[in-house]
Amino acid sequence: MEETNTRSTAKRNAVVTGANKGIGLEICRQLASNGVEVILTARDEQGGIEAVENLRQSGVSNFVFHQLDVKDSASAFIETHFGKLDILVNNAGDGGIIMNSEAFRAFRPVDRRSVKYLLI
Ligand SMILES: NC(=O)c1ccc[n+]([C@@H]2O[C@H](COP(=O)([O-])OP(=O)(O)OC[C@H]3O[C@@H](n4cnc5c(N)ncnc54)[C@H](OP(=O)(O)O)[C@@H]3O)[C@@H](O)[C@H]2O)c1
Repeated sequence: MEETNTRSTAKRNAVVTGANKGIGLEICRQLASNGVEVILTARDEQGGIEAVENLRQSGVSNFVFHQLDVKDSASAFIETHFGKLDILVNNAGDGGIIMNSEAFRAFRPVDRRSVKYLLI
């Protein structure tokens, strides 16, 4: 009996958030280099378009750009254009923490150097 492997032939797609720079951009490059159709998203439209153009000029294709702030809903776009989502890389950095500097100074951890990220 002949076996069919739909996984190897079906085109997978991925959404990467916050992908106009940094780790998200590199994740896009690597996914696309491995045959995944990448929906590169960024909240800054111009930055996202430039990122896609730079990737294409470096010889990597398989990209679609979509403007997306992770605080907005993405579902309508994905359903309308692709009908499915194989991979979501929710990379966009948004700590959601606002710290008052006075309050931080009053805070006395055993070792303040152990605090890795501070968003003021
Ligand atoms: N780099 C590290 O050593 C490290 C370590 C641990 C964890 N991380 C995490 O890894 C992720 C990426 O890090 P990175 O170093 O590549 O950071 P980055 O260079 O600062 O990039 C962050 C990306 O997230 C986007 N972003 C922020 N808020 C967004 C929002 N509301 N909607 C859509 N996009 C938004 C930024 O867009 P804009 O350009 O518009 O600001 C930017 O494209 C972050 O979540 C970070 O917390 C990084």
